[in-house]
Formats: sequence, structure tokens, C-alpha cells
Amino acid sequence: MSESQVWDDVDAYVHEHLAPDDDVLTATLRDSDAAGLPPISVTAAQGKLLHLLASLQGARNILEIGTLGGYSTIWMARALPADGRLVTLEYSALHAEVAGRNIARAGLESLVDVRVGPALESLPRLADENPPPFDLVFIDADKGNNTRYLEWALRLTRAGGLIVVDNVVRGGKVADPDDTTEGVRGSRAALEMIGSHPRLTGTAIQTVGAKGYDGFALARVLA
Ligand code: SAH
Ligand code: DHB
Ligand code: MG
Repeated sequence: MSESQVWDDVDAYVHEHLAPDDDVLTATLRDSDAAGLPPISVTAAQGKLLHLLASLQGARNILEIGTLGGYSTIWMARALPADGRLVTLEYSALHAEVAGRNIARAGLESLVDVRVGPALESLPRLADENPPPFDLVFIDADKGNNTRYLEWALRLTRAGGLIVVDNVVRGGKVADPDDTTEGVRGSRAALEMIGSHPRLTGTAIQTVGAKGYDGFALARVLA
């Protein structure tokens, strides 16, 4: 059996027993696919991790950068209390529209605010609204802007807040200094910023599964 076949099989097993899909999540992926969105959402196991992290944070306010069809959004928003809020930023009008329908079907539209446009334009607007500090930030958009997104997350997150950055391993390319493609440089820059910033302490966890070999960075915001 090939290595990636084992990863798929174990991911399917975890998916079935620990992070089962319900009709809403199944329909979210089906409709995202039907609308032509790329199949790059987090896996079910990773969605469940985001849900657990939101719960562990006691999150009332969550920020997501990179909505796609709202799959990770729904996993996280389901951990919010009834008066919580999740703001999610998406560049593509099509992705945001598909996500809006998926979020409505999940019964989460009163908690989730999808904002269309380049996140680097939405973030200053959001900051101008003086939102309550975020308890959890999930960064999962254009990797070349990762450090800018981390700067905004630092500005908008409470002490003790958690920042999660997706796709920081990229099949191992992050540790290959000869790979200077923009996305890989963005993943590397995020890790190095987390390692060196006085207000951040964090780590990176390598993951394998249905979406290949990649990883999450987890960083806690210090006072
Ligand atoms: N978090 C999603 C996957 C996000 S995929 C999930 O796990 O379900 C990355 C998304 O970031 C895509 O929808 C892409 O359109 C969006 N994106 C890319 N560049 C962006 C930018 N500059 N601002 C906001 N969103 C961006
Ligand atoms: C890509 C982006 C993602 O956020 C992801 O999880 C996987 C792949 C991409 O742009 O290829
Ligand atoms: Mg991702």
C-alpha cells in the first residue's frame, strides 16, 4: 500500500469515528464542488480540530481569513455561543456567495459575517469598527500575505488568543531553502515570525491525510 493510501484510509477512519459529517457539511462540500470551487477546504479531522480549539478558547469572537465555501467556517462557528460572532474574509465574490448559502443552510447566518474583497482591504475596515478582540484567528488565504495577516491578527486578538495558520508545511517544501515560490516563502515567513515575535509563542504540527502532507501553525498571543 502506498504511503498516501494509508493516509487516506486513516483519515477516512478518523472522519467516520471522530469527526462524522452531517447533512449540512456534506451539502457544503457538494455545493462548493458543483459551483467549481477548488477542493482545498480543511479535512473533517482538521475541521474538528478547529472546532475543539474554538471551544478550548471559550471563543465568542472568531476571525477567519479565507472562507472558500464556508466549510471551516461552519466547523468553527458551531463552537460559538448564541451571541458569538465569526467574521470571515473572502476575496472571491463567487466563493463568498456559495459560502453564504452554505452558512445559511447551517442555520449560522446570524453568527457569521462574510465580507467580500481582498483581506488586506477588509482588515483595516474591520479594525475601524473597534470589534471586540478575537479569541481565535484562522489564517487560510493567499500564503504570500501570511505575515501581514499575522500582524493584523496580533492587533485584533486578545492576550491569550490563538492564531492558527494553515498550510505551513506544503509537502515539506517549507524546510527546503531552494524552494522560493511565493506560497512556500509565505509559509516559512509565518513560522519564522511566530518563532521570533515577542508577543507570540507557538509551534507547527505536520499533518497527513486526505489533503496530502501539510501542517498547521498554532500561536498564542502573549500580553
Ligand atoms: N478556510 C477554507 C479554505 C480557504 S481556501 C476551508 O478550510 O474551508 C483559500 C481562500 O482564500 C480561497 O477561497 C481564496 O479565494 C481566498 N483568498 C485568496 N486570496 C485572498 C485575499 N487576498 N483576501 C481574501 N481571501 C483570499
Ligand atoms: C491551497 C490553499 C489552501 O488553503 C489549502 O489548504 C490547500 C491548497 C492552494 O492554494 O493550492
Ligand atoms: Mg488551507
